Amino acid sequence: MRKPFVCGNWKMNKNVGETRSLCAELRTALGAFSQVELAVAPVFVSLPAAVDALKGTNIGVAGQDCHAEKEGAYTGNVSAPMLFDAGCRYVILGHSERRTYHAETDALVAKKAAAALAAGLNPIVCVGETLAERDGGKTLTVVETQVRGSLADIPEALAARVTLAYEPVWAIGTGRNATSAQAQEVHAFIRGLLRSMVHGEADKMRIQYGGSVKPDNAKELMAQPDVDGALVGGASLKADSFAAIVKAMHEARAR
Ligand code: PGA
Repeated sequence: MRKPFVCGNWKMNKNVGETRSLCAELRTALGAFSQVELAVAPVFVSLPAAVDALKGTNIGVAGQDCHAEKEGAYTGNVSAPMLFDAGCRYVILGHSERRTYHAETDALVAKKAAAALAAGLNPIVCVGETLAERDGGKTLTVVETQVRGSLADIPEALAARVTLAYEPVWAIGTGRNATSAQAQEVHAFIRGLLRSMVHGEADKMRIQYGGSVKPDNAKELMAQPDVDGALVGGASLKADSFAAIVKAMHEARAR
């Protein structure tokens, strides 16, 4: 049985003070909630504040990206060992906003994922099709290319530490989530692909859904057999909506 995993992706929101406040609220709302694995991903400069504010809770801290190299002349970047040293235990990789605005390729994401694992971080690797690709009937082909390419450098023995996040680009920040049937179709397809790649380890890997997850659609999404949690953007910026999503996902799985 895979433990559900919900991560809040704060994107470029919340300065240090706001991070402290939201973490304090999450501590009250979810700090002792152990049925679901939990993490939040603040901006780099707010990571130490989040780690400090969430100390002793069940809520982990994630980076939103890392570089593939350990250190060196890469102005503006942060490495996986640096995130680990700062207290992070997760890192989001290959988010569609990174793929779009920073031209990240599957090959680059694969290198970052391998670096993250080597540093002790558990990567959350994002994939998902655009609206044009879905309308063109290319969803599964696009997702297959992304999954195979982005996980190309993952040793089978470490695969269980990797979470996949299926985030259809047309559902991110639009208020238009995939239906539970659309999500399950792609999640089941990804599970099959993972089985062909890492065999039995595939059944230990969590596949999160992401894209306009809200308290009122979380339960139905989570009721799907291959949906193992969520990567939550907008609704993770308020403690009450994030906590409601986490609790709805737990109830769906506990049934
Ligand atoms: P959203 O973002 O929940 O605001 O749609 C999800 C994501 O981009 O991870």
